[in-house]
Amino acid sequence: MSRTLLVTSALPYANGSIHLGHLVEHIQTDIWVRHQRMQGHTVHYICADDTHGTPVMLAAQAQGIPPEELIDKARTEHVRDFQGFHVHHDLYYTTHSPETRVLAETIYRQLQQAGYITIRPIEQLFDTQRSLFLPDRFIKGECPRCHAKDQYGDNCEVCGASYAPTDLIQPVSALSGATPVRRTSEHHFFRLALCESFLRDWTHSGTIPPEAANKLEEWFKTGLTDWDISRDKPYFGFEIPGTVDKFFYVWLDAPVGYMGTFKKLAEERGLDFDAVWKKDSPVELYHFIGKDILYFHSLFWPAMLECAGYRTPTRLFVHGFLTVDGQKMSKSRGSFITAHQYLQVFDPEYLRYYFAAKLNGSMDDIDLNLKDFCARVNSDLVGKYINIASRCAGFLTKRFDGWLAPAFPESATPLLQTFYAAAQPIAQHYDDRDYARALREIMTLADAANQYIDQYKPWELAKQPDQAPLLQQVCSTGIELFRLLTLFLKPVLPVLAQRAESFLGVLPLQWTHAFPAQALTGQRIQAYQHLLTRIDPKQLDRLATLDQEPPTTPHKATPPAQTTAPYSVDSPAVTSLQGMPTTPSALPPLADTIGIDDFSRIDLRVARIVDAQTVAEADKLLRLTLDIGLEQRIVFAGIKGSYTPEQLVGRLTVMVANLSPRKMRFGESQGMVLAAGDGTGLYLLSPDAGATPGLRLK
Ligand code: 2FM
Ligand code: ZN
Repeated sequence: MSRTLLVTSALPYANGSIHLGHLVEHIQTDIWVRHQRMQGHTVHYICADDTHGTPVMLAAQAQGIPPEELIDKARTEHVRDFQGFHVHHDLYYTTHSPETRVLAETIYRQLQQAGYITIRPIEQLFDTQRSLFLPDRFIKGECPRCHAKDQYGDNCEVCGASYAPTDLIQPVSALSGATPVRRTSEHHFFRLALCESFLRDWTHSGTIPPEAANKLEEWFKTGLTDWDISRDKPYFGFEIPGTVDKFFYVWLDAPVGYMGTFKKLAEERGLDFDAVWKKDSPVELYHFIGKDILYFHSLFWPAMLECAGYRTPTRLFVHGFLTVDGQKMSKSRGSFITAHQYLQVFDPEYLRYYFAAKLNGSMDDIDLNLKDFCARVNSDLVGKYINIASRCAGFLTKRFDGWLAPAFPESATPLLQTFYAAAQPIAQHYDDRDYARALREIMTLADAANQYIDQYKPWELAKQPDQAPLLQQVCSTGIELFRLLTLFLKPVLPVLAQRAESFLGVLPLQWTHAFPAQALTGQRIQAYQHLLTRIDPKQLDRLATLDQEPPTTPHKATPPAQTTAPYSVDSPAVTSLQGMPTTPSALPPLADTIGIDDFSRIDLRVARIVDAQTVAEADKLLRLTLDIGLEQRIVFAGIKGSYTPEQLVGRLTVMVANLSPRKMRFGESQGMVLAAGDGTGLYLLSPDAGATPGLRLK
């Protein structure tokens, strides 16, 4: 039966870069979405930036730009990063949209009319120097319970106590360093307790993972309290209708952003918005979230939807956190890896595979062990999976002009049957989000395929002319097994699968192609082309030394303790503009100054590396063909020690286009590519995504 599904990943904050923690969730969602589509279901996968709140407002102020500019810039970067990992959202929108505004206002009014909103004054800490009410995380002071100093306004990291910021002893504003004063203002509250019986039913109806049930029980026991959904100005957000200078708290409009984003998609694609969001809609709604935001998604969000007359989510898929080498990602330990940094070094599909191999549908944390990452990708993907194609294709191309045998040998029947029979259970594991189990089973099949090839030794058969028919059959079996493995891996490795599909000469693989009737026989395959490169563990060193992009703000809505480094969460106290420690001493001294005229004589151009070849007689050089829009240039670059040709082809870089050509032993070098280096590593410069070949640098 064909189904329609609306699927979301949690909306990343606009005030930070996409990092590997986000990718655990988005890769997980994307795999699930691709799997559902391969089953023939209709899936809308949406996401957006979560743009409102005090941290965004302050970050924009610190950069001297309007918040709208900050969030636009962030969205461009976030879209680039997700695309870089082949995470394909049907729409990646923003919560700062007319659609979300209208829906937030509508929901608020509906809640108000139904009696779920109450207004009362509350006392909060106010920073008189910055003229704003301080969110809990922007206040520090002494813990009222254990007297530990320097604790945040909501809870103590030393003794675990939770308290109101007004309970802190000697509170200090993290923004100005001033002592805040108590000030009263009116706030709007959502009366969550009125929804208790609905929430008890809803959370016990299979919508929430069983592991989360205990947590929920605790919350019910403590009692559901009114939820403060308003904030005073100055605030970057949507004004609450009928009020002056009151705004919706960011967590009110963030989940409404799921609806607003779908509304926009529906307008773009002519879909029926109401059919999806009306009560009892047959469309399934799934939210992928981290366990830290369970409270918002299992209580506030369903309660808001229910009380305002909409449908509620079908299920919440909740995952754990990411650790890197066993520890929380941390900038100061150098284990905070952004999506952009990763992509400068590694193929995105390596990480998709590694995360998938760890994700089992539970709320357990997953660890990225960097050494294990290299070993696993090399042994599973290159050593087991790709190896099957590379072992069989050569013989077919050389001996049979690429033609596959019209039928498989009888000896292969049991193995082929095992493969076809595995399709259903593997699909079920994907469905259960137990990707780890799916991949374990797929790799067991890959082992069996390799054993089959070992057993029939095509390289021996190739020496015996009378064995040609068997050689063709054995290799064709290998190719069919490879086709099925490609199909099974496709939700995880979509781009590699695409390359494999063109090598095999098949249409985009769907789950219905995992049947004997679809077997690949009697047709021609393309000559085998290199499909995937082994990871060189030395590349890990590069990852560790990569520069950060100038970050917009902290990645979470967590303020720094000091105002001197407003962008760094836990980076060293002294930071350069790039958020990196200040200059180490071994760098060469700065060169003499030049005038702007001298500089502008250098014609720097964005170039795409369209080809890269090793140069037989030179062990440092690569011969690059560069596309600079109007023409192509050949440049010999001394970067062979740091890059393989495969890593370079397709990549953008920057070249000096008006350097006089130089005659070299191997040919003429028509320019120079720009790279930074200190004798230990070399780093080719690249422009941001979106740049096109030929653009001139200024
Ligand atoms: O925790 C976070 O990163 C939030 N920005 C997630 C919001 S998800 C949804 F509710 F909008
Ligand atoms: Zn304490």
